[in-house]
Amino acid sequence: MAGVTDYTFRRLIKRRGGVGLSVSEFISVEGLTRSNPKSKRQMRFAEEERPFAVQIFGGQTERMVLGALMAEEVGADILDVNCGCPAPKVVKNGGGSGLLKDLPRLETILTEIKKSLSIPLTLKMRTGFTDATINCVEVAKMAEQCGVEHIQLHGRTKEQGYKGLANWDWVREIKRAVKIPVSGNGDVTSIENALKRFDETGCDGVLIGRGAMQNPWIFRQIEDVMNGRAPFEPTLEEKQAVLLEFFELLREDMPELPALGKMKQLAGQFTKGLVGGAHFRQTLYHSHSAREILDNIGVYFTTLTKGETFGDGLLETEAPVIDSCDISAVAENEHYKVAA
Ligand SMILES: Cc1cc2nc3c(=O)[nH]c(=O)nc-3n(C[C@H](O)[C@H](O)[C@H](O)COP(=O)(O)O)c2cc1C
Repeated sequence: MAGVTDYTFRRLIKRRGGVGLSVSEFISVEGLTRSNPKSKRQMRFAEEERPFAVQIFGGQTERMVLGALMAEEVGADILDVNCGCPAPKVVKNGGGSGLLKDLPRLETILTEIKKSLSIPLTLKMRTGFTDATINCVEVAKMAEQCGVEHIQLHGRTKEQGYKGLANWDWVREIKRAVKIPVSGNGDVTSIENALKRFDETGCDGVLIGRGAMQNPWIFRQIEDVMNGRAPFEPTLEEKQAVLLEFFELLREDMPELPALGKMKQLAGQFTKGLVGGAHFRQTLYHSHSAREILDNIGVYFTTLTKGETFGDGLLETEAPVIDSCDISAVAENEHYKVAA
């Protein structure tokens, strides 16, 4: 997830266990091939993250091939092509879900990348551009012919953005239509839901995005249940430790101000399901320094450990929903603003 699954966040989640594959944020090949420092930075990963896929986006074949080779050069295990981003800026330039409207172009991009690359090539896509032009089965078959080795379907159209629910029927349809592995994606936030999706669609994998922000242990819990074990249940101490670990990782990587912003971004989701979570979230949003944020985390968890009530003491279930992959929109959302 752009703006979320960076080097820091991915390691935090990977360390919780159960993650089969980590994927970078989508990286612009226009930026990469022009030595944009941000794009290069987005390709960083740690050995502990393997297997690791770099996801690239763009609409120009030559640049996509160059970007793919750069990912291979930095040691990525897998190259993933983004065929799903609905952001107007990306679509306008022929990339992301824009490629679902131009299959000859997509075919050329995949064929040319495949010719040049020695690591596996995978594709992440939406069901189609609009409800009237759903073409994911056709795209999957074509991608398989081009040598793509894994299809990942987010069950929404471009037009849908993040509204409504993902339609997993299309995951089942693609699974029936191709021989390569197929993974489904969209709205998985619980163990039960993940297992149901595997059962209903016969898919080979489930991708989880926003659910990992609410519950960093979700992958481990699903793995536990799939292996006949009781799902891991983090203690209050472990929940506190994960927030502190995130902040420590952030501070190793960036100055205090952006680290505070990232902390607030995660807190917005992580507080979902915590007792007094809404109130706790507000204290984090209104923290102005590293010291203050760490103190507020300490006060919250000490209160709960003592069995005392924090804020209204209600179980928080209505945390803000992230329903956009437009990062400027995320930054503009006052919940994610860093207090000056
Ligand atoms: C903030 C945000 C950023 C995203 N960035 C990307 C991205 O860079 N590449 C990608 O393939 N999908 C991206 N997505 C889509 C997610 O990977 C996923 O397909 C979608 O959120 C549905 O899955 P979920 O309900 O598990 O989050 C993004 C989604 C969000 C909310």
